[in-house]
Amino acid sequence: MKKIMLTGCLGQIGTELTLHLRDRYGSNNVLATDCSIKGPSEVMESGPFEVLDVLNADRMAELCDKYKINTIIHLAAILSAVGEKNPQRAFDVNMIGLFNVLEVAREKHLQVFTPSSIAVFGKSTPQDMTPQDTIQRPNTIYGVTKVAGELLSDYYYTKFGVDTRGIRLPGIISHMAMPGGGTTDYAVHIFYEAVKNRRYTSFIAKGTKMDMIYMPDCLKAITMLLEADPARLQHRNSFNIASMSVAPEDVAKEIKKHIPDFELTYDVDPVRQAIAESWPNRMDDRCAREEWDWEPDYDLAATTKDMLERLSAKLNAG
Ligand code: NAD
Ligand code: SER
Repeated sequence: MKKIMLTGCLGQIGTELTLHLRDRYGSNNVLATDCSIKGPSEVMESGPFEVLDVLNADRMAELCDKYKINTIIHLAAILSAVGEKNPQRAFDVNMIGLFNVLEVAREKHLQVFTPSSIAVFGKSTPQDMTPQDTIQRPNTIYGVTKVAGELLSDYYYTKFGVDTRGIRLPGIISHMAMPGGGTTDYAVHIFYEAVKNRRYTSFIAKGTKMDMIYMPDCLKAITMLLEADPARLQHRNSFNIASMSVAPEDVAKEIKKHIPDFELTYDVDPVRQAIAESWPNRMDDRCAREEWDWEPDYDLAATTKDMLERLSAKLNAG
């Protein structure tokens, strides 16, 4: 039976992943933690919740003992755009936080899942059908910490036998919690603004393709890899996964099928645009498909329809 602790559970992914895992494994078997207490009450009240700063290794170990944890899903991180504003903080949270998780896991024989990101790639990486194993020379602090995190997680597996696993997540499109300050955030904001104001001004330029994934597929991928047969895993940290490669105008075109007078304009942010241009247009996810049967359910059309329906219900009810 899994006894899971999530770090950073009040962010974009944690909010939905906590509820998903509680449905799957039982509410009392999923401990949600975050350094903040600002988040949806359903995450903090549908099962155990504790305040945990991932820089506090002693408290992390205590909580693992108290709740008899056997798996850590480590979501606490500083994302790409916020990281460029405070690289020192991004280094501490993303590197020291992961080191603390891996050390606790080594001492207590726990499984660890840590999301990596499309941010592990840089301008020298092949941008189309980016291979699983390729050049990784990112130029953001977020990307640097994510590459180091992949390597550190691999090291803990080969050196100490810690069962580490991870996925290079694309930008996540979702309707429950807002994204936490990344380069792909436009692909969430555009849906909120379409429903509220029928217009959106994009900080990412026309023609800039990036991989995106809808939250239900993200939850499915995490659960599949967590439960995958270890004997089949050649790449533990971290698998490319892909479901749609989109630019802002592609999303706008789909939205217009539902909201014909929707208007997209541009006011490009040079910092986030430079980051976006250094990331892949589309990753090759054949290793995930071969090693743990990854397959997405949502393309851009299905994502758009579902996002607009759910946001219309949420925003019009409020
Ligand atoms: P988010 O920014 O929405 O949430 C991060 C959470 O971590 C927040 O609730 C924050 O309070 C918490 N946190 C920050 N510092 C902390 C600390 N010191 N101790 C404990 N908690 C702390 O992030 P997210 O989008 O949910 O991302 C989760 C993971 O997935 C991260 O590793 C991120 O790199 C990865 N990822 C996310 C995306 C995406 O598009 N959302 C894409 C690729 C990878
Ligand atoms: N969505 C994340 C970001 O833009 C990618 O890891 O930072």
